[in-house]
Amino acid sequence: MRFKGAVLVLLALVTSSILAACGGGAAKPTTAPAPTAASTAPTTAAAPTAASTAPTAAPTNAAASALAVGIVLPTKDEPRWIQDETRFKDALTAAGYQVEILFSQGDSSKEKANVEALLTKGIKVLIICPQDGTAAAAAADEARKAGVKVISYDRLIRETDAVDYYVTFDSLAVGGNQAQYLVDNAKGTGNPLYLYAGAASDNNAFIFFQGAWKVLQPKIADGTFVIKNSSEAVGLQAKAELTRDEEAKIIAQVTTNWDPATAKTLAEANLTKATAADKGNVFILAPNDGTARAIADTFATDKDVKSYLVTGQDAEKASVQYIIDGKQSMTVFKDVRTLVKDAISAAVALLEGKTPTSSGAYNNGKVDVPAVQSAVVTVDKAKVKSDLIDSGYYQASDFTGL
Ligand code: BGC
Repeated sequence: MRFKGAVLVLLALVTSSILAACGGGAAKPTTAPAPTAASTAPTTAAAPTAASTAPTAAPTNAAASALAVGIVLPTKDEPRWIQDETRFKDALTAAGYQVEILFSQGDSSKEKANVEALLTKGIKVLIICPQDGTAAAAAADEARKAGVKVISYDRLIRETDAVDYYVTFDSLAVGGNQAQYLVDNAKGTGNPLYLYAGAASDNNAFIFFQGAWKVLQPKIADGTFVIKNSSEAVGLQAKAELTRDEEAKIIAQVTTNWDPATAKTLAEANLTKATAADKGNVFILAPNDGTARAIADTFATDKDVKSYLVTGQDAEKASVQYIIDGKQSMTVFKDVRTLVKDAISAAVALLEGKTPTSSGAYNNGKVDVPAVQSAVVTVDKAKVKSDLIDSGYYQASDFTGL
């Protein structure tokens, strides 16, 4: 069956071939989200369910025609989401299905219009990565009213009970791995530390920061690092765990808004304000690859910066090249093939009236949303080949100087 318009992804029950195209048979995430009191973070509330997300039934025409899923992603302007689009397309077209995905271009009202268009087309499941986690609640509520199941993809939709399932990476580990890289490479005391964060409208920005703070705070308390660009963080540096409100205060000072241009402007302002003594050999917590490259380029041009280590996330090709070239120190590789596979499995389970398997839950400020999360991997120059090329994620020919 074909739907008119450019906004539907048709799924079928041929999940064996779909899952194969996603790197099928890969192990399910095993790490249960860690318990915490903060509403941004995973909770342990939901026990794994008995129902299976790995349907084995062959499709019938009738079943296939009922399996309509719409996908909404935040923006085409960041390579991260193009990766997701590509992997969804690879997975679904390999199985012989038409794939069309809508982008919200960083605009919550466009996102809502996209969702409404999909609902009009008669989708049964919505896979959505919200531009703004709280603003997207209205779209999720509309979907729920229309009887459509909602899967929050990578980013959690907040403050609504209309989210059926959450497919995510281990975002605490993302921040934790970034911070651990800085800790592992710091010697002595008094090392200048510059903190940067994602967009305050993205729940993940809080979880990444929470994961990083847990690792960095003891090393700030013992004098290994000295925070140079956030008075709020300095004021809270004795606290091992921060509330969401406290995190919000720090993030407000160091947000990149997930935008490289904003990151560059902020880094320039930080360096202008800092003295030569605040520079030297610096350590930079950058939240993702796009912002890391902008921040790295800015620090690289400051005459008082002797060396810098900078973190990243997403294994974007441009950043992998930066890592090979020694311009970015590491990235956190999040294998999008796994996330896509989990989202498709969950969609199929929901379409079959089953409960997708969950390994825990994330509280979204209103309810505990059953979730499955997958592991992340630190990649530095020494690991590019083994983790990104040999794994088949990228081709060696995508890069120079490997
Ligand atoms: C994602 C990251 C991405 C960032 C900016 C986050 O929610 O988890 O992978 O780099 O948004 O788009």
